[in-house]
Amino acid sequence: MTRKAEAGSVLVFDSGIGGLSVVRAIRAELPRAELVYVADDAAFPYGDWEETALTAHIVELMGDLIAEHRPAAAVIACNTASTLVLPALRARHAIPFVGTVPAIKPAAEATQSGIVAVLATPGTMARDYTRDLIRRFASLVHVRLVGAPDLARLAEAHLRGEAVERAIIAEQIAPCFVELEGRRTDIVVLACTHYPFLAGLFAELAPWPVTYLNPAPAIARRLGEVLQAGPVKEGEGRALFTSGRAPPAQLRAALAAQGLKADAATADGAP
Ligand code: DGL
Repeated sequence: MTRKAEAGSVLVFDSGIGGLSVVRAIRAELPRAELVYVADDAAFPYGDWEETALTAHIVELMGDLIAEHRPAAAVIACNTASTLVLPALRARHAIPFVGTVPAIKPAAEATQSGIVAVLATPGTMARDYTRDLIRRFASLVHVRLVGAPDLARLAEAHLRGEAVERAIIAEQIAPCFVELEGRRTDIVVLACTHYPFLAGLFAELAPWPVTYLNPAPAIARRLGEVLQAGPVKEGEGRALFTSGRAPPAQLRAALAAQGLKADAATADGAP
């Protein structure tokens, strides 16, 4: 059920800067909405956290953020978080939450070869939620679930303007490429919001061309639907980092390109 949204900004939340791939789609759908982007970089990467501790951490942090910013809606722009904490957040807060979960259903519907890969973090790979999606929507399809240990970190480095090791990327995407009885993987689901920023490199390093499925446009459309229940504030966007560390120049430029200004307190490195 869609709950009634009150006037306010949209809070977009991720463990780091991967959620900017979702912001890009939100900007295309709702260009004037006031966005507050929160990167929980102090706790990054979420992919390595144990589930109970991660749930408690996110529930507490989101409680503080919602009390402070009073958003009209929140987008959990992180598969590793969404596959775990959406029920707990919805039970505690009256605002609508839009989650990001692996796009297994659309991949199962679109595959021609009958072989798809889901490229996720180790956390998302291990979730009951993810395995349940495969059971419910892809029982007739061969699904290769891949939990890449380092790709989120490499995407962060790439966005910060640092060099990334191509050999590690090639090694971590390799298990997605399956050949079975003359058929090959034709769709790779990008089941971590960091991965669209590496998709160009994936395409260069892949053993054959595939479609990389990025669910961000569908998430932005869903946000548009839930916001029809109430007005959203228009205004400038901000980006906050839980570590308080100042973003480097290249990342500031990437944030500015999405209409997000690094918060003054954090940009100066103050807590
Ligand atoms: N961006 C996050 C996701 O969509 C996860 C990255 C991490 O913190 O491991 O899963």
